[in-house]
Amino acid sequence: MALIVALLSSLIVLSASSPADALSLNHYEKTCPDVESIVSKAVQSETRKDKTIPAALLRMHFHDCFIRGCDASVLLYSKGNNKAEKDGPANLSLHGFYVIEGAKKEIEASCPGVVSCADILALAARDAVVLSGGPTWDVPKGRKDGRTSKASETLQLPAPTFTISQLQQSFSQRGLSVDDLVALSGGHTIGFSHCSSFVNRIRNFNATQDIDPKMHPSFAASLRSVCPINNKAKNAGATMDPSSTTFDNTYYKLILQRKALFSSDQALLTNPKTKNLVHKFATSKQAFEKAFVKSMIKMSSLNGGQEIRKDCRVVN
Ligand code: HEM
Ligand SMILES: *[C@@H]1O[C@H](CO)[C@@H](O)[C@H](O)[C@H]1NC(C)=O
Ligand SMILES: *[C@@H]1O[C@H](CO)[C@@H](O)[C@H](O)[C@H]1NC(C)=O
Repeated sequence: MALIVALLSSLIVLSASSPADALSLNHYEKTCPDVESIVSKAVQSETRKDKTIPAALLRMHFHDCFIRGCDASVLLYSKGNNKAEKDGPANLSLHGFYVIEGAKKEIEASCPGVVSCADILALAARDAVVLSGGPTWDVPKGRKDGRTSKASETLQLPAPTFTISQLQQSFSQRGLSVDDLVALSGGHTIGFSHCSSFVNRIRNFNATQDIDPKMHPSFAASLRSVCPINNKAKNAGATMDPSSTTFDNTYYKLILQRKALFSSDQALLTNPKTKNLVHKFATSKQAFEKAFVKSMIKMSSLNGGQEIRKDCRVVN
């Protein structure tokens, strides 16, 4: 009897401390030991051919995690009547899907049916940061892939026009704090933005101001010169920061100079707590990197899916 009680209680403890979908660092140690090196090599070789790939992969992972958790829903193709996230309104500039699809193919050849597309994307986002000169970290693994992807759900992503309270709400709905918000916004140290994402700030800002007074006038003037009226050149835009292939803390310095692209970036100065963090990260690259890693692990552990997809583009 005592033995049974002891067994039962240890079972309860076990199941409480290790839910079926808990992530772990050694998840593929036995089943697919080379997964990390396969992903790293794929990201490296594709980046050599196209310098925009790291930024694309980091943003793709963020979009994945913010809709239905990190479940590779962002990778699914539209099918029949169902328009997938990829084809949603917020898909502008998401690209580089082939990097994940290609890594998955290689992984399937050595360990079929074992590694989720969501894990591959989480690893690729980490590798993208490292390749750009940012910090590295160990990625917990064991995510499952989802079976649903809806274009309409991309409306749940935070918009570049968001105020600090809207940003805070968007993050807290996903269990992320204001510290996470400030640290993760630092992802905007790499990459490119189209004019449509910041045009609200440089023309017809409101009834009385043509330009957002929160933007430095000379910066606004330079953006106006690259963004044609009526958004005629669909590919026009600006790099997120002048060192746009280098993962550093320049983003925070730019916010302090009123030279950040989006209202949502500049909004980080409108709350005392987030403002303090912007100052801290602008002064210390180390503090930024430490906070970024912590918040990335948190964001990238948001739960999602149900299966290990065979092909990242379609459900099993
Ligand atoms: C806080 C809320 C956020 C908003 C409102 C936001 C919004 C945007 C927008 C509008 C763009 C430009 C899209 C375009 O015009 O092409 C962009 C680009 C980007 N975002 Fe964010 N973002 C946010 C958070 C994040 C986070 C958390 C990350 C990653 C940690 C991230 C990483 C990136 C990257 C790397 C790019 C450049 C993409 C490329 O060059 O292809 N963003 N973001
Ligand atoms: C984004 O969506 C549009 C239609 O809404 C589609 O034509 C385009 O191919 C999509 N872009 C990507 C990168 O999937
Ligand atoms: C325009 O924006 C400025 C700065 O944010 C603000 O002070 C002003 O009240 C706004 N005007 C209108 C009409 O909304």
